[in-house]
Amino acid sequence: MKHLLDTQGLAYHDALAILDTAEEMTAVSSRQVKKLPTLRGRTVVNLFYEDSTRTRISFEAAAKRLSADVMNFSAKGSSVSKGESLKDTVQTLDAMGADAIVIRHSASGAAAQLAASDWSEAAVVNAGDGTHEHPTQALLDALTLRRGWSSAHLNGPRGTDLTGMKVLIVGDIVHSRVARSNVWLLRTLGAEVHLAAPATLLPYGVESWPAIVHYSLDEALSAAPDAVMMLRVQAERMGGVFFPTAAEYTRRWGLTDERLRVVEQLRLGDTDSPALILHPGPMNRGVEISSAAADSPQAKILDQVAHGVAVRMAVLHLLLSQRQHDGNHDE
Ligand code: CP
Repeated sequence: MKHLLDTQGLAYHDALAILDTAEEMTAVSSRQVKKLPTLRGRTVVNLFYEDSTRTRISFEAAAKRLSADVMNFSAKGSSVSKGESLKDTVQTLDAMGADAIVIRHSASGAAAQLAASDWSEAAVVNAGDGTHEHPTQALLDALTLRRGWSSAHLNGPRGTDLTGMKVLIVGDIVHSRVARSNVWLLRTLGAEVHLAAPATLLPYGVESWPAIVHYSLDEALSAAPDAVMMLRVQAERMGGVFFPTAAEYTRRWGLTDERLRVVEQLRLGDTDSPALILHPGPMNRGVEISSAAADSPQAKILDQVAHGVAVRMAVLHLLLSQRQHDGNHDE
């Protein structure tokens, strides 16, 4: 694996290797001294053309915990406002020495364009490109799901996939790179994927996706999912009107206090453990998810954040240590 651009092309064994390595990294993150020397002397560039809290900070924390140097670039406040192109920005940062470039961009395909270019020899990690993919989000979601699923079944998580698990993804799927990355990865890991959304928020061609589509959230919940992943309503990507009002959206598609009572009855497979609630963040509390649902014991939203650091440590470790072995970089 030279780059991590998407989950659609991520092989089963590579996905499991990332999840298993992330398990080891969670142990590092829970130590008093949260450091490994693995990437000492390496430089990770965070190149963010869109706003981010979780992804940018957790990539920074991940790189630092592996002892790498970190350069943070935000388009806001940079020479992008003077018209500097992506190519010139990448070449400028590359000239300062980049071993990995983590890129978030509003254009779908930006990470792939960078990886295919001769602008830099660095490993490229897609931290979200337009509405296309957000692979490390799906991997941290998978780590969260696998930990819940395996602990309910009294198994160790390492080496296992999500076979038998039913995951429901709800809401603004058309604008969601998180949904796309999750659909591909969950299928690769053997889960059964369900989608629930208004027709206006489903992408063209969704019937060819490896997922069961529901046009009613209540009907989707009656299919007894093991996990319910609520998506943020991405108002910033909505040029037109996709639903009548926020209140109407919440009534039909929100994880409200009333629907939380239904989710509280759901179980993880045939165990007594409760089903899981996930949200990639940031949340619109009171729109797609009520505060009671977001803060309920079933919600794994802060676990997802913690797993984000571990997964990103695993990705950087696997990409850059592989390069050391390949001899692509001088020691
Ligand atoms: N889930 C996610 O990508 O959050 P940020 O936009 O805060 O990085």
